[in-house]
Amino acid sequence: MAKGITAVFPGSFDPLTNGHVDIVTRSLKIFDRVVVAVLSNPQKATLFTVDERVQLIQEELCSRFEGVSVQSFSGLLVDFVQKAQAKIIIRGLRAISDYDYETQMALMNRNLSEDVETCFLITSEENSYISSSIVKQVATFGGNVSKFVPDRVQKALKTKVATK
Ligand code: PNS
Repeated sequence: MAKGITAVFPGSFDPLTNGHVDIVTRSLKIFDRVVVAVLSNPQKATLFTVDERVQLIQEELCSRFEGVSVQSFSGLLVDFVQKAQAKIIIRGLRAISDYDYETQMALMNRNLSEDVETCFLITSEENSYISSSIVKQVATFGGNVSKFVPDRVQKALKTKVATK
């Protein structure tokens, strides 16, 4: 365990999936505190508002795991990381197809702030093909996503789809 170290786990989380929960669980084996940083970007269309995403993550993770907090952020991730007094960004890697984009982001973030390191964690095999986008797509057409997201997210998806 890297004692006293805070890591930031950023993402859109639209919505939180079991893959994200898996990465948070793994992160807590290494770091004391994990700040889940939810991107607020009005230019990007999302199914859930930023407040809804933050609330869902808070309800799901903060009661379950000590050391997890959730905040929204806008602008540059490295600025948020600095404000959170952290130096580590956590990103989950599912398959080799994630590698290009993730390397690009990690190198750009390093360029923007030399103090910040990106730490990649490999998701569990059963979560390796899950993404928020695919979950949204399936849920939008009434498919069963119970294996891929926490129960409360599944319920929130049902409500959202029904009221859209
Ligand atoms: O879950 P996502 O959509 O893959 O997360 C992407 C995220 C939020 C990590 C990325 O878009 C981001 O960091 N956005 C903030 C803007 C920024 O700092 N850009 C420069 C790094 S590429």
